[in-house]
Amino acid sequence: MTSPFTKHQDVEQQTLVQVLFEQQFKRSAELVCHAPGRVNLIGDHTDYNDGFVLPAAINYGTTIAASAREDNIVKVYAHDCDQQVSEFSLDEIVFDEQMMWSNYVKGSLQALLKKYPAIKGANLVVTGNVPQGAGLSSSASFEIAILKAFAELYQLTLDGVNAALLGQQAENDFVGCNCGIMDQLISAMGQQGHAMLLDCKSLSFEDAPIPEDLTLFIINSNVKRGLVDSEYNLRREQCEAVAKYFSASALREVTLTQLNLAQKEIEPVLFRRARHVITENERAVNTFKALKINDMATISAAMRDSHISLRDDFEVTTKEMDGLVEMIDAVLGDSGGVRMTGGGFGGCVVALVPNDLVTQVNEVVNTQYESQFALKPSIYLCTATQGAFRYNWVNIESDKIKINQ
Ligand code: GLA
Repeated sequence: MTSPFTKHQDVEQQTLVQVLFEQQFKRSAELVCHAPGRVNLIGDHTDYNDGFVLPAAINYGTTIAASAREDNIVKVYAHDCDQQVSEFSLDEIVFDEQMMWSNYVKGSLQALLKKYPAIKGANLVVTGNVPQGAGLSSSASFEIAILKAFAELYQLTLDGVNAALLGQQAENDFVGCNCGIMDQLISAMGQQGHAMLLDCKSLSFEDAPIPEDLTLFIINSNVKRGLVDSEYNLRREQCEAVAKYFSASALREVTLTQLNLAQKEIEPVLFRRARHVITENERAVNTFKALKINDMATISAAMRDSHISLRDDFEVTTKEMDGLVEMIDAVLGDSGGVRMTGGGFGGCVVALVPNDLVTQVNEVVNTQYESQFALKPSIYLCTATQGAFRYNWVNIESDKIKINQ
């Protein structure tokens, strides 16, 4: 989604898509679905190594109004992507070089068709407010919203884990990013007020409440991310190369002792990549345990170490993200935690901030970031929300609602 939803703050997302649907298709939508973006508290670049992650679904996401069609045509109006319309047949799904956003729809449906070949087309209106390219999973929220809408339209027995696997397939096989399962799974299965420890090998998960005295404070560095997919895929290849060296199915199976013993045999860059993954898995599990007992000192240290590891060993941070982490860490000390979040190479930093320090952190970011990096930060005070859902239908008087274009 190219532009944040903030333009339409006066209209709820659900209402917005219902009204837009009527305008586009001259009839009411059958249903409205929503899937959230996510923030990862800790455990980055571990999911595709069969490791552990600790994300939460956030109150920014993708909302879709949908109606079934009797033919195989899918017609999508993307309100936030310059109001573009993509129309294609389920019989011939081809990559679109122009409307890149439409490939998330196409990829998801291509994957869905393999499992449910009998589905028909649909009319869809999409809007989203997850900042794009910020490391908050706007694409996973789009895929999961599409899959949820089709599951509801055609009453498919598609549970959240399988929807996540299809969304991941869309990215891997159609869009061309070899991402792991984290983003799609939390978007499908997140729990309000909770973070989820996900074991990316078994796909089992457990939730822990985020203490109420903490705010999920997200800052977008607004560094435009470049070469993300190629650098991301390269990191994955490097991890797989080390796993192969140990004849392991994934780095999850390799211990730090084994890695250290083999240090002389392994290229230094590959050694550092693997060290990040192995230590990050341990930090994710420890943070989850600490979250359950509100042990902030442990969370704080783990988040600090995670950032350093992503900066020095995995090399996916930028100087702007490092700067943000440093200035926030100086305020929080051991009473909160801060680190980069997501794939990296730009994008967001996440902080767990005690409610009584929110104003201070806000002020530090607003005064110091721009003067140091000549970029304006965007701040999102988030809450952990539930995963994908279908809205209860509301009747609207669409002629009374004015939408700012
Ligand atoms: C991206 C990918 C995820 C995960 C993170 C890094 O968000 O989509 O699968 O690998 O990067 O943790």
